[in-house]
Amino acid sequence: MTPGTTTPLDVETLRKDFPLLARTVHGRPLVYLDTASSSLQPRPVLSAMEQYYETCHANVHRGVYTTAEEATARYEGARVSVGRFVGARDPGREIVFVKNATEALNLVVRSWGAANLKPGDAVLLTEMEHHANLVPWLMLAERSGIELRYLHLDDDGRLDLGDLERSLDGVKVVSLSAMSNVLGTIPPLREIVEAAHAAGALVVADGAQAVPHFPFDVQELGVDFLAFSAHKMHGPTGIGALWARADLLDSMPPFLGGGGMIFDVRLDRFVPAEPPHRFEAGTPPIAEAVGFAAAVDYMESLGMARVRAHEAQLTEYAIGAIAERLGDGCRLFGPPAGPDRGGVLSLALRDVHPHDVAQVLDQYGVCVRPGHHCAKPLMRVLGVTATARASIGPYNDERDIDTLIEGLEEAGRLFS
Ligand code: ALA
Repeated sequence: MTPGTTTPLDVETLRKDFPLLARTVHGRPLVYLDTASSSLQPRPVLSAMEQYYETCHANVHRGVYTTAEEATARYEGARVSVGRFVGARDPGREIVFVKNATEALNLVVRSWGAANLKPGDAVLLTEMEHHANLVPWLMLAERSGIELRYLHLDDDGRLDLGDLERSLDGVKVVSLSAMSNVLGTIPPLREIVEAAHAAGALVVADGAQAVPHFPFDVQELGVDFLAFSAHKMHGPTGIGALWARADLLDSMPPFLGGGGMIFDVRLDRFVPAEPPHRFEAGTPPIAEAVGFAAAVDYMESLGMARVRAHEAQLTEYAIGAIAERLGDGCRLFGPPAGPDRGGVLSLALRDVHPHDVAQVLDQYGVCVRPGHHCAKPLMRVLGVTATARASIGPYNDERDIDTLIEGLEEAGRLFS
């Protein structure tokens, strides 16, 4: 069991919190193995949002009437809850609400990156990045003359850090996934942060897959920016967060312009507001922030160490059972089960197309994602165009994995 955990997660009981798990598909119980795409929402999240709309919805930071002040308090309270969840020192100041992790990464690149990087500066990325942590940097490189470098993967799908020090020469920022959405690889972030800081570079962590699945403390890890999304951690779609150290946010220019992000506006100039509001133009996703806070409360009630212990055990079970029952006919990508492997199971079933695999699995009620998973460069490294990806959440158990394998065996038979 992971240190800090006492009792295992009571999966049977927590499954009852998720209304969607009660439905059937093609006459079979839903087996939800697509949490890396989007997670399911428990009742406390759904009811917090409904209760907010029923009792105090109003625009925030504008009205002086009672419900408007209540809405503002709920929104700002959500910021503090979300910030505390990732260990922010000053959560009320260091969390910017955005649309999703993608927007958080775009905000870093367009605001901090455009203001601080000059031609010849290097940015260090990795081959396993999601497009959200590639395309914004590629867009900046196109117009600014910065150099993009990449850390490569070894045969197990781990980052090859043998050359890290040399790769960091001239690098101003390292931006990497804290857990791969394709391989489940969990890189040694603390070690990378130490090397990056020693080389004078900042570190941006894409936490979209990490923050929902294991304890993540920005101060302990020492990262400078962290992007994450509510809908991957049992909150609603439409909201995510950028955490950044207060001094960095203070130094950054606004990203989007409009109402809510200014201190003063004249016809020939404007003065931006202080962070975090400087980066939140327009009416923000208020009910979504309330849902996001309820989601982190829910995750805290489960205990992140217990979530990780459960998912690590289930990942180990899945990797073993897939190898045993499907043998060489099924190639599973990513590192072996262990402390640096999260619950993402990307696979290639012989030469059966991943879309066909996913369609057969749907007949078993099993939800997986086929495709390139917004990581086309990684697909090229793996030598495939797509994979079928099953991904684990706290509500999954061994029966779900057994049903997945039953469906994979059937896909193998149908397409033999
Ligand atoms: N980033 C999400 C995924 O990996 C959409 O599926």
